[in-house]
Amino acid sequence: MQRGKGMKFVGDSRIKATNKMPNVPKDYSEYPGKTEAFWPNFLLKEWMIGAVFLIGYLILTVAHPSPLERQADPTDTMYMPVPDWYFLSMYQLLKYEFASGPYNIIGALVMPGLAFGALMLVPFMDTTKERRPFKRPLPTAFMLLSFAALFYLTWESVVNHDWEQQKIQGAIPVEAEFDMEAEGYQIYAAASCITCHGDAFQGGLGLPLIDTGLSAEEITTIVHDGRGAMAAGLFDGTDEELQVLAEYIAELKSE
Ligand code: HEC
Repeated sequence: MQRGKGMKFVGDSRIKATNKMPNVPKDYSEYPGKTEAFWPNFLLKEWMIGAVFLIGYLILTVAHPSPLERQADPTDTMYMPVPDWYFLSMYQLLKYEFASGPYNIIGALVMPGLAFGALMLVPFMDTTKERRPFKRPLPTAFMLLSFAALFYLTWESVVNHDWEQQKIQGAIPVEAEFDMEAEGYQIYAAASCITCHGDAFQGGLGLPLIDTGLSAEEITTIVHDGRGAMAAGLFDGTDEELQVLAEYIAELKSE
């Protein structure tokens, strides 16, 4: 007799020999060799798997930090925001005439609402027992259609977005410690330079002047001869002043 298994105790005939409730799973002792105790065996395994993923994510976040942009500026109306990749399809939808402007409600609420609503109705709409995709043409067709639409919209939004501009608009400005009392800064502010290169050398119409990697000579040459969009002869001071200014700019380095 094996450990009372399958045995019915009918010592007292007034007590019904109840069969097990149908929904109660068997005790794990009924599967010798195939089960384990929840505590500590199972939990320890779970914890070890969890630790592997945790460390994996940790390494990933350290190796690939979030691509942060500069601090948000609510007064900057030129800024073009763009959602994360998994929302690009919906973002693209809002660019079409039938889903934007006066029809914004359609693009923002009605169409996504219908799509997600249909997703919830799937279990009720398709009750066939068949599992092979080609034996369930309608659901399969709808799935392929939604996938194609998602793929197409995401694709369109990626190729139509100005990623270069996005990089520029989000760039974190470099900052440098500099002495506003120094002669170099006085000359810089008195000349026209400050209007294009900014009061903190952060750039504007002109390039940022921090970390240019240029020597004082190269800077004097650029100021003398001009370069690209910067005209020649913008400096109206003496050569000595230009020398002081150039040396000052050459020293501007970010921390
Ligand atoms: C009208 C606007 C304007 C003014 C005024 C101006 N710059 Fe420029 N500056 C620019 C532009 C635009 C560039 C980028 C030129 C290019 O595309 O090659 C530039 C580039 C430079 C560069 C090279 C930067 C680099 O990283 O290569 C230096 C150095 C420079 N300017 C110094 C000065 C100094 C010094 C003055 C003042 C005498 C001055 N600029 C005045 C617009 C200006």
